[in-house]
Amino acid sequence: MSMTAKEAEKLFEKLPKAELGFFPTPFYRLDRLSKELGVNLYIKRDDFTGMSLFGGNKVRKLQYLMGDAMSRGCEYVFTFGATQSNHAMQTAAACRRCGLKPVLYLVAIVKPDEDDLRANLLLDRIMDAEVHIVEIQAGETEEEAEDRAVFLAREHMARLNKEAGRHVCYEVPMGGASPVGSVGFIEGYVELEKQLSAMDIQADYVFHATGTGGTMAGLAAGRNLVGSETGIISINVSAKDPEYPKRTAALANESLKLIGAGITVDAERDICTDLNYYLPGYEIPNEAASEAIKLLAVKEGLLTDPVYTGKAFAGMLDYIRTGKVPAGSNVVFWHTGGATALFAEKEILGDLSK
Ligand SMILES: Cc1ncc(COP(=O)(O)O)c(C=O)c1O
Repeated sequence: MSMTAKEAEKLFEKLPKAELGFFPTPFYRLDRLSKELGVNLYIKRDDFTGMSLFGGNKVRKLQYLMGDAMSRGCEYVFTFGATQSNHAMQTAAACRRCGLKPVLYLVAIVKPDEDDLRANLLLDRIMDAEVHIVEIQAGETEEEAEDRAVFLAREHMARLNKEAGRHVCYEVPMGGASPVGSVGFIEGYVELEKQLSAMDIQADYVFHATGTGGTMAGLAAGRNLVGSETGIISINVSAKDPEYPKRTAALANESLKLIGAGITVDAERDICTDLNYYLPGYEIPNEAASEAIKLLAVKEGLLTDPVYTGKAFAGMLDYIRTGKVPAGSNVVFWHTGGATALFAEKEILGDLSK
């Protein structure tokens, strides 16, 4: 059974939480683009979550993950991602804010240049995170390298726990995609619902970029919790196997259980992902994303990135232009951050500078 936003908020209070960001994030209409596209286009500015200028979706998850780590008396937080991972950088920032030590195992999908560190990897260095670069070996896939990163990190954690004689290490999965982390996005959806009702708007669609699925799980759970009919369309930024929606629904259900919500998410009914916009691959730019990034920048002075939000925005534009989203619809683009990629290696940037 669905509940009011106020009732839903009571559920989150049960969990330990570190207050890291600035909420609610701004939500407003993009007037110029709305006119051009023939829909009412709104933006949810989770690029503005804080803690630094380089906010993003991970801050919502990290509030609960750091809360959990501290309530368990941990001293180190280990996490994973690509070398230009927004999640890893934001985890380092969250750790510093909470007095915990960040340890990052990062897979070199794009090889960094030690003499010319860029974007998130530079920020990781400035925050003095302990960074372990995991190179992809000959014959190894990205997924295998990611599994190896987890294996190496777990050995490292076991050593530190043994030395301390207690559990001092907290493991955050890639993207913060855990039941605890996704609670942050259940809360995020409830926050959006309050903003929509204050503006007397019913959103027909929410579009956002999906990677590990932690954001999507939380959004779907939050939408069901408040009984909203809004369609959430999650644009993939990387290849996924057919079980991805089911896994994400299971993650949503674990988060809902954690807060004692008494409702569920169903993969077929509630999860809608689209693999049509990420190619040629994760962290590899495409033309449609470059066009989308430039359109939003030129029409609204707003910046998205080539890895996540640019591809999601391109997907949303395609849905609108081809009529899959009918004219006159109320459409929300959930900006999940990631603008540091605009200052990353040129392999990631593509032709944006041209
Ligand atoms: C900017 C940005 N948008 C979207 C995502 C996808 O979020 P999730 O991993 O929760 O699916 C990420 C994840 O790293 C991100 O950095």
